[in-house]
Amino acid sequence: MNGGKTNAWRPGKRDAVFLAIVAAVILLLVYGTSERTTKAVPDDETHRTVTSRDQCMSCHGAEGVRPQPAGHIQGGQCFQCHTQPRGWTGGKP
Ligand code: HEC
Ligand code: HEC
Repeated sequence: MNGGKTNAWRPGKRDAVFLAIVAAVILLLVYGTSERTTKAVPDDETHRTVTSRDQCMSCHGAEGVRPQPAGHIQGGQCFQCHTQPRGWTGGKP
């Protein structure tokens, strides 16, 4: 027994600081991940109709008109990181 004293939790200054930090971390995680930082695939005639990785690489390979930057991931699904153009047709005209 503790002599009838209640150990009620009274939030103090340090608790407030701690809670503020927790809230900040949660907000950072929620809002920090909601937006992709990778460049979207442009919504143009070319990009709306390409369907295969080989096609992408014919322009974005080392010899293409717009090579991927050095150190770019080799392989992988392009659209996993670069969002599809809004009007992407999947090859259908
Ligand atoms: C016919 C050639 C060609 C093909 C095929 C092609 N691209 Fe592109 N792509 C370009 C050119 C040129 C640019 C840069 C000019 C522009 O912004 O439109 C570009 C820009 C991009 C960008 C943005 C880069 C930047 O600088 O903003 C991404 C991402 C991209 N392409 C991904 C893809 C993916 C994924 C595919 C396959 C689904 C693909 N491209 C197929 C020619 C092509
Ligand atoms: C694992 C994620 C990932 C995958 C998969 C991926 N990319 Fe990228 N790509 C990036 C990142 C990160 C960058 C550099 C940051 C930026 O500028 O978007 C980049 C940059 C690029 C750029 C240059 C953008 C510029 O600034 O000019 C092109 C073009 C490109 N990627 C094309 C492709 C193509 C084509 C594919 C599929 C074969 C592909 N990427 C797959 C993550 C990825």
